Amino acid sequence: MNKKTVMTILEKKRKSEKITMLTCYDYVMAKLISYQDIDMLLVGDSLGNVKLGYENTLAVTIDDMIYHTKSVKRGNAGSLLVTDMPFMSYESNVEEAVKNAGRIIKEGGAEAVKVEGGVEIEKQVKAIVNAKIPVVGHLGLTPQSINKFGGFKVQGRTQESHDKIISDAKAIENAGAFAITLEAIPEHLAKEVSEILNIPTIGIGAGCYCDGQVLVVDDMIGMFDDFTPKFVKKYANVSQIIKTAVKEYIEEVKEGKFPKEENTYK
Ligand code: KIV
Repeated sequence: MNKKTVMTILEKKRKSEKITMLTCYDYVMAKLISYQDIDMLLVGDSLGNVKLGYENTLAVTIDDMIYHTKSVKRGNAGSLLVTDMPFMSYESNVEEAVKNAGRIIKEGGAEAVKVEGGVEIEKQVKAIVNAKIPVVGHLGLTPQSINKFGGFKVQGRTQESHDKIISDAKAIENAGAFAITLEAIPEHLAKEVSEILNIPTIGIGAGCYCDGQVLVVDDMIGMFDDFTPKFVKKYANVSQIIKTAVKEYIEEVKEGKFPKEENTYK
């Protein structure tokens, strides 16, 4: 399988080929996904929800992100490995942002980092890129701003918010990001952003005109069922398969049907 790089992703936009991305949080899933030749694996801070059981992503730490990135790295067949910078690891100052992005690359083994926000983090994006670390932006419903937004709400519906997303997208592209994730915004706005920018847009709940798509893997395989957003398509029902298997195991142990001779050392 060909190694995917930042160049691969930029080239895909140039050729109007769709970019594929899924979140991933561990070695086993990285092997399963990356060998299907997906373009990018995202160690998302959504791991706070789907792996650590938090209500939102705010409590996730840089050490959590590094731990999971290391695990994904060991199973990655060649997808471009991007890791989220967690809440408060880059917002307050440029030096801190570069230092933490550096830790994610050096200790975790990621090949790029993702940050949420627009004009207000332009300086951080520039400095991280200047430190030779590729950056993905993230606009629209940025889950680290949950307290500011007052919940997980679709963004970009008012003229003001629409215009801010457009100017933020331009600022993040100018700062040197090589792609931007657009989350939970109206399709027409995502189309506009995708047409204005030279770098690719990766949509999640942003319609079909983005240059690529990303989903939380635990949502799309039906593993995480606490809450499923409207934009998710469930391609499998893995939680049901697990429940059925565990029930059968419990029954067989209780009834003495497991272990059998073939599962036993002589
Ligand atoms: O953390 C995450 O999983 C993300 C995706 C929703 C894009 O940022």
